[in-house]
This record gives sequence, C-alpha cells and structure tokens, in this order.
Amino acid sequence: MDAPLAERIRFLWIRKKGPAYAAVSDVIDDQYPKLPRPLIIKQIKLGENAFKFLINLPPGKGFDEFKKKERLFADATGGSVHIEKHGTTVTMEVLTEELKNSYAFSLFDYLKYGDMYLPIPLGVSAKGLIVRDLAEYPHFFTGGETNFGKSNFLHVVANSILLYRPEAFLVIVDPKSTEFAYLADHALVIDEMENVRETFKKLNEEMDRRKKILKAANCVKVQKYIEKGGEMPFIVLIIDELAELQDKEAIEYLWRLLRMGRFIGIHIIAATQRPSSKVFENFGDIKAMFLGRLAFVCADDINSRMILDNDLAAHLDAIKGRAIYKCGLETLEVQTLFLDPEDAAKKLKKMPGKELTKIAILSKQSQKVLPPRQSFALPPGRLQSVKH
Ligand SMILES: Nc1ncnc2c1ncn2[C@@H]1O[C@H](COP(=O)(O)OP(=O)(O)OP(=O)(O)O)[C@@H](O)[C@H]1O
Ligand SMILES: [Mg+2]
Repeated sequence: MDAPLAERIRFLWIRKKGPAYAAVSDVIDDQYPKLPRPLIIKQIKLGENAFKFLINLPPGKGFDEFKKKERLFADATGGSVHIEKHGTTVTMEVLTEELKNSYAFSLFDYLKYGDMYLPIPLGVSAKGLIVRDLAEYPHFFTGGETNFGKSNFLHVVANSILLYRPEAFLVIVDPKSTEFAYLADHALVIDEMENVRETFKKLNEEMDRRKKILKAANCVKVQKYIEKGGEMPFIVLIIDELAELQDKEAIEYLWRLLRMGRFIGIHIIAATQRPSSKVFENFGDIKAMFLGRLAFVCADDINSRMILDNDLAAHLDAIKGRAIYKCGLETLEVQTLFLDPEDAAKKLKKMPGKELTKIAILSKQSQKVLPPRQSFALPPGRLQSVKH
C-alpha cells in the first residue's frame, strides 16, 4: 500500500472512532511528529459526554511533557481534560462538554459518600464532581483574587458539614462580620478579632486533652478511636481572610493547631486573597500542613505559586468559581459548586428539629469533649456579648 493511501485509511479509521478520539489523535500527531508516538490503546465511554483514553507513552516520551499538553487536548476536544499516570500507561479523561460557569450545590449527592467522615464537594472537573474527605487532609488552603469565589467555597464547606455531618463541631472565624452571620445558630461564628485568640487557646487546650485520651486508648488518630466506639466529634475550623489575623499570640496558637491538630480531629480550612503579602512571611514554614489547596483566579504567577507551587491559577479563565485543586500529585481544574447563603439559611431552617438536635449535640459535646460553649467562645468577663 502506498504511503498516502495508508495515511488516508488511518484518517478515516480514526474519524470512525468519534470526534473525541479524532481530536486526541490529531493533537498527538501534531505534537509528536516523529515516530514512535504516544499510542491510544483504548477508548472507554464513561457517559454521554465523557470518555477515558488509555495511552501508552513510548520510551523517551516523558509523562510530564505529555501532561503539559492538557490544555491543547482540552482545546481540541472542546471540553475539559484530565491526564493521570498509572504505571506505564497514561489515562486521559475527557469531558467533551466544556465546564459550565455555574453548578448548583444541590448537585452534591451526599448519600453517595456515607463512608467519608467529612465529605466536601470541591467542584466539577473533567472527572465529574470531585468529593474528598476533609478528615483525610491535615488542613486545606484556598486563595485567589478578590471576588472569584473563596467565601462561596467556604459556604459550601460549612453547609456540607452542618447539613450532612451535624455531629461535627464547626467554628468559623469571620472578620468581615457579616458573611457567616446566618450560621450563628448552628456554628460558633467569631466575628470579633479579640475573641479569636481566646478561641484558638481553647482549641489548643482541647487538642492537648484529646491527645491524652487517644494515647490512653492506644489510638494513633481520632478515626481509630471512633472505630473502636469512642466519642470524639471532628472540629472544623474555617478562617475567612487569614491575612486579617495579625495578633501574634493568636497566630502562635493557630500554628500549633496546624502542626498537631491533624491526628486529633481538628481540621482547618483557611482562605486568603494574597498569600504573597507581608503577613505571610512565615507562611512557607506551615504551607506543607495544608495538603489540600484550591486556587481561584490569581493576579500573577507569584500568588499562584504561593498556593499551588505552580502558575496554573494565574492562567485560569476569569470565571467566578473556577479554580485549580491540588492535593499531592493530583491537580485538577474545577468549577466549585455555587451556594447562595440565603438559600442555605432557608435549607437549614426548613429541617424540622435539626436546629434543636444540633444544639443538643453541642451541649452534649460541651460536657463530654469541649469546654462549656460560652466560655469556649469568649474570654472571661465578656459573656454579655454572647450571641447564641
Ligand atoms: N462557584 C461559583 N459559581 C458561580 N458564581 C460564583 C461561584 N463562586 C463565587 N461566585 C460569584 O462570585 C461572587 C464573589 O464570590 P466570593 O464572595 O466567594 O469571592 P471572594 O473570593 O471571597 O472575594 P473577597 O476576596 O472579596 O472576599 C459571589 O457573590 C458569586 O456571585
Ligand atoms: Mg470572601
């Protein structure tokens, strides 16, 4: 067979496999003009608009180089693409429909995640909705330019916990004073900076108390203790605008929680606009404690690198809620779920008896695990300003 005819047959054969296959194949041909090229060994249809390709990389054609072409594959397929390494084979997941600019929080089907301690929906990616167990991370960090979705993500986290894991204890540091006020009946919302230090101190005391209990029970971490039938509710500490935290003592307490809280069920999710600002001089030292990172649109490579250790978030399309999620070797572009706090407040109110149950659990916690709620929230002598 002459070469042009063989080429023509190959061309027709590839088109027959469908537009996604053809697009992936065209990019490979274009990017790897010389043989041997990466070879598509299998196409698996995952859904109406979703495919998975198994690809073999020939010797000398590195994974990192291939992964860098993710954007080219996304442009060619007209959707979103995620490339992963599995031994010598590479998988490429392709969602031929582009990520939308908004997905509702109701997309989170929490019933599917019964085996997770603290399931959190991180957003929709080429792999579908990404849900991870916050209890598996030490802590989580989110950043990005103003107005691109940090606080919305924190609302998603807070409501996922309050609605679906009501046994957990939620503490929210909200220096903007209004953002999380609607949760004041369900969580400990601290909006006055002077109360932050005292709360962090109490959390440190709680951490030390828990450490002793776990040691006595011979458990390396809280999950083991719970499996054995022990009662130790997870505590999730959400901090919006970490850069506002300037009190030295409060920062010391927080750093200690970050370093040692992981095994005893205290998980911290912190948000900030610009981690490259002066406030974060020591940020490098504790950054490793935040295994999970979510970077919304960043103004420049420096801020993106501070969050992700790469510049991907500086090159995101300027879409609210669009972000790069990174945890260890996993890096994904996601569109976070959107949650209107007004709807969230209604949802929490609509659940009959939920509020009462929550308060009952909190008071039970305060006897068994946590210090009394009011003194937990406020320094002595300030009880008049208790909101709850
Ligand atoms: N996932 C999303 N999907 C659609 N729209 C979103 C999403 N996240 C945020 N938005 C929109 O962007 C607006 C700003 O989001 P948000 O307040 O979370 O930003 P921010 O990063 O916290 O800003 P700031 O730094 O000023 O606090 C929201 O009011 C909402 O309209
Ligand atoms: Mg915000």
